[in-house]
Amino acid sequence: MKPKRLALIGGGQMGRALLGGILTSSILEEDDVCLVDPCQATQQWWRENHSEVECLGLSDAIAASQAILIAVKPNQVSSVASVDGVDFTERLVVSIAAGVSLTRLASLVGHERVIRVMPNTPSLVRQGASGFCCGKSVTQADRDWVQSLLNCVGLAVEVAESQMDAVTGLSGSGPAYVCLVIEALADGGVHAGLPRSLAMKLATQTVLGTAKMIEETGRHPGELKDAVASPGGTTIAAIAELEKNAVRSGLIQAVIASANRSRQMDA
Ligand SMILES: NC(=O)c1ccc[n+]([C@@H]2O[C@H](COP(=O)([O-])OP(=O)(O)OC[C@H]3O[C@@H](n4cnc5c(N)ncnc54)[C@H](OP(=O)(O)O)[C@@H]3O)[C@@H](O)[C@H]2O)c1
Repeated sequence: MKPKRLALIGGGQMGRALLGGILTSSILEEDDVCLVDPCQATQQWWRENHSEVECLGLSDAIAASQAILIAVKPNQVSSVASVDGVDFTERLVVSIAAGVSLTRLASLVGHERVIRVMPNTPSLVRQGASGFCCGKSVTQADRDWVQSLLNCVGLAVEVAESQMDAVTGLSGSGPAYVCLVIEALADGGVHAGLPRSLAMKLATQTVLGTAKMIEETGRHPGELKDAVASPGGTTIAAIAELEKNAVRSGLIQAVIASANRSRQMDA
């Protein structure tokens, strides 16, 4: 068996999004990766989309790899680490399981060369935003490698572990808030007389374009908002409605609620 650089444990939604994006860059070749996943439908997806990625049993995959990416559900992480004959010694272990702390990961795999990542679903289209934090034995080369892998599917920032709940509340859960905003904008468009499909297209492009404009110009969103709100005009009338309905406060509270829930799950 050719030595693998990475074993993906759990090739479901997020595993596909991350590894799929990474494989379309040339940082890793399919031949460098193996998959462990009991689900027939998942194995089938990998065979059809990345045919050179070998599907192996857990012990063989770990023995063959230098790094392990754990992408199973949080409640399945313990079962991965407790399989007989599995030895994580000298392997970098990266986990995307929500709420599984570095301490817990280290105790499961038996060392502190562990990295915890909170990715988000836009990674599927290589526009993700991930936060990650590192255990005590992670080297600079490990950090740089994981950062470069995550950058294949979007933005990646290293944070302190104490900030991971806030990352969960903002970018981890954030795609759901933005979907809700786009859906609501489209509903408004329909109410004002547009056909549904056109309203959805305009709402989506407005969010996409505004985010791009903030990113590319580096200007503060408040400044860009002021620039389109002319005295006595349509936009300021709309903003007054948003403020009346506490939209800003609702979004702030949403991030805090998600971060608090993540903190409870961590405990
Ligand atoms: N989706 C998100 O928005 C998101 C965002 C950030 C982080 N995450 C994290 O990403 C992780 C994966 O989520 P997901 O949505 O990708 O889940 P998923 O689609 O259910 O994928 C998990 C895969 O792992 C397989 N699996 C179960 N036990 C296994 C084992 N012992 N060894 C190897 N594979 C095993 C599952 O097979 P079965 O279906 O047969 O169980 C499934 O194919 C979670 O921990 C979640 O917290 C997800």
